[in-house]
Amino acid sequence: MSQTQIQTELTPVALETGDPAADPRLFRRCLGQYATGVAVVTASSGAQLNGMTINSFASLSLEPALVLWSIARTSRSFAFFSQCQSFAINVLGADQIHLSQLFSSKQEDRFSAAQWQPGMHGSPLLAGCIAHLECTLEQTFEGGDHLVLVGRVTRIARYAGTPLLFSQGQYSIADVHPDLSGEPESAGSQPRPEHNLLSSIFDAHHALSEAFEEHRRAEGVSVAVARVLASLYARPGIGVEALARETYLGQRDVEDALAELQRRAMLLRDSDGGLRLTALGERSRIAIRDRWHAFQKAQLAGTSAHELKITLATLDRLLGRQAVAGVAHA
Ligand SMILES: Cc1cc2nc3c(=O)[nH]c(=O)nc-3n(C[C@H](O)[C@H](O)[C@H](O)COP(=O)(O)O)c2cc1C
Repeated sequence: MSQTQIQTELTPVALETGDPAADPRLFRRCLGQYATGVAVVTASSGAQLNGMTINSFASLSLEPALVLWSIARTSRSFAFFSQCQSFAINVLGADQIHLSQLFSSKQEDRFSAAQWQPGMHGSPLLAGCIAHLECTLEQTFEGGDHLVLVGRVTRIARYAGTPLLFSQGQYSIADVHPDLSGEPESAGSQPRPEHNLLSSIFDAHHALSEAFEEHRRAEGVSVAVARVLASLYARPGIGVEALARETYLGQRDVEDALAELQRRAMLLRDSDGGLRLTALGERSRIAIRDRWHAFQKAQLAGTSAHELKITLATLDRLLGRQAVAGVAHA
């Protein structure tokens, strides 16, 4: 076997390649292959408070205890954070997407919509987080279109809970890798305990989304574009922020998806900022929806009407509870 043959068999064909300078969206998609947690960095200056969602947070040094994060120079909060002498990192838990959305939105007084208390340097500590790291500013570095802030960690707290993750442009949660889940199930093993049901729902969601990928690709759309198409079809006139909330996508990914739709003449922007699909956009949405229906039919072949009824009733109940929890947060 020749060297080239071995190479071809071991290296899967890249889905996309390019030059990051010429294709920044591809650069972001490549970076999105690296999963991160999500945090809200907060700080105070006199009576003024500020906070923003970040996923650039990283550990830097154990001795001394240092962490870092970076802020875009284009951020409206740049002047504030580049002057701050201390900050707090609030690490978000899996049930805190609403805080990530709040602190990456354009809402002016974000703290009136969140529960918090001041930390040792006055930076707000958000309730319900899975860790707080209170820091004093150690150093800053130029980092292209970002400024890197290094903090010396002065007080830490860890709480129960699992982290909220961000990868491939969307929120996700961590689960134990199936290769590590212990004993293989024998024929006579007990049914999976009830508390694994939610993990199974989540796994099924990811597996189905991955399996549907070839259909999306056939229509020439990414996951983010497909979600935005679906929301715009169902709610013509929706604004960017509501779209980000509804699709569970970060604001930047929504903007990217909208730019892509506009490039393909599928998007119309109303004078009041409302967004709607062109006839071409609607046709694309309908084509994807039809593929989805056929895909669903194939996936559920062999599932009885009774099984479906019970599954749907359980899922409806779970979704109903989430809707109630959502109202409580607002
Ligand atoms: C998951 C996620 C991670 C983000 N990470 C960063 C980051 O590391 N640095 C940054 O400058 N902005 C980041 N942003 C964007 C900011 O949160 C957002 O631009 C900012 O809060 C907008 O408010 P402002 O312009 O009023 O400051 C992120 C947004 C999301 C949703």
